[in-house]
Amino acid sequence: MKKRILTGDRPTSDSFHLGNYVGSLQNRVKLQDEYETFILIADLHALTTHFDRTDVLKENIKGLMLGYLSVGLDPDKVTFCLQSGLPETTEIAYYLSTLTPRAVIQRQPALKEKLDQGNQDTVGLYYYPVLMAADILTPRAHLVPVGKDQKAHVEFARDIAIKFNNLYGEVFPIPEPLIGEVPTLPGTDGAGKMGKSTGNAIYLTDSKEVVEKKVMGMYTDPNRTSPTVPGNVEGNPVFTYLDAFSDSSHQSQVTSYKERYKEGTVGDVEVKKFLVEVLNTFLEPIRERRKKYEEDPELVEKILKEGTQKARIEAKKTLTEVKKAMKLNYFD
Ligand code: TRP
Repeated sequence: MKKRILTGDRPTSDSFHLGNYVGSLQNRVKLQDEYETFILIADLHALTTHFDRTDVLKENIKGLMLGYLSVGLDPDKVTFCLQSGLPETTEIAYYLSTLTPRAVIQRQPALKEKLDQGNQDTVGLYYYPVLMAADILTPRAHLVPVGKDQKAHVEFARDIAIKFNNLYGEVFPIPEPLIGEVPTLPGTDGAGKMGKSTGNAIYLTDSKEVVEKKVMGMYTDPNRTSPTVPGNVEGNPVFTYLDAFSDSSHQSQVTSYKERYKEGTVGDVEVKKFLVEVLNTFLEPIRERRKKYEEDPELVEKILKEGTQKARIEAKKTLTEVKKAMKLNYFD
């Protein structure tokens, strides 16, 4: 039997950017044949920051679905599911919470970050890793492809699975995190990682023209006042993007641009124009697939609905086993 993947995203936005792609989406696409893949839209987790903005959830859920399908996740292979349609998961989360030391929850770095960002100090926010562990353990996933920022949560899920199995018997496989090839893609401003809130992102939905505008305005080596000044390739976001998004047909040009940049025999504008070409080559098939699915919203809806039904069958099976293992099967 194939091993399983579970991963997912919160519907706090309706689109993905290049950083999401190299951090996690790329691994999902690559592994969809080898693993039985579940992709979860975590609307319950979105409540931790968006409980007062639930009117945006519906559009965001649709946007994430279009994003998944457009990068080439195949609905015949992947089970897409919605967290609020899987009530068994929240029940399992409660059981896991009884094994969770309070201190571990209070120490999680993501909690501090969310509180520093001004989010409300709610019990839901503290419960975040417990629910995420339940998301992973309910379909009995072996592998969890996520961005680097989520690694600690997957490690928590591992610890809690080990603890559960030791106490009650082997119910859960021990899940492993899988982090993308480029764990932190810099933003177009070179100031930090690409993010939705920082205005330094290139989106998978950006048009050719928008990509061109963003790339031509990108941060490069600030010491290069003219094309004859030898430049830095290391840590230069233009070259980081070239490495991340060029295909084999661009390889020799990438190598030659790096050499010429270091020698001071090429201008920034020329390299950026080349990057525009590379990114648009990468984005074009994504745009085409998206257009196809945008024209058929009922199909997209059906994929999520049927996926959730399928995931629920698995969730019910696991819940039955969990309750049996915990001797919570009094009425059976
Ligand atoms: N916390 C994840 C994020 O914000 C989303 C998520 C919820 C998730 N449940 C998950 C990711 C389970 C992987 C596995 O990106």
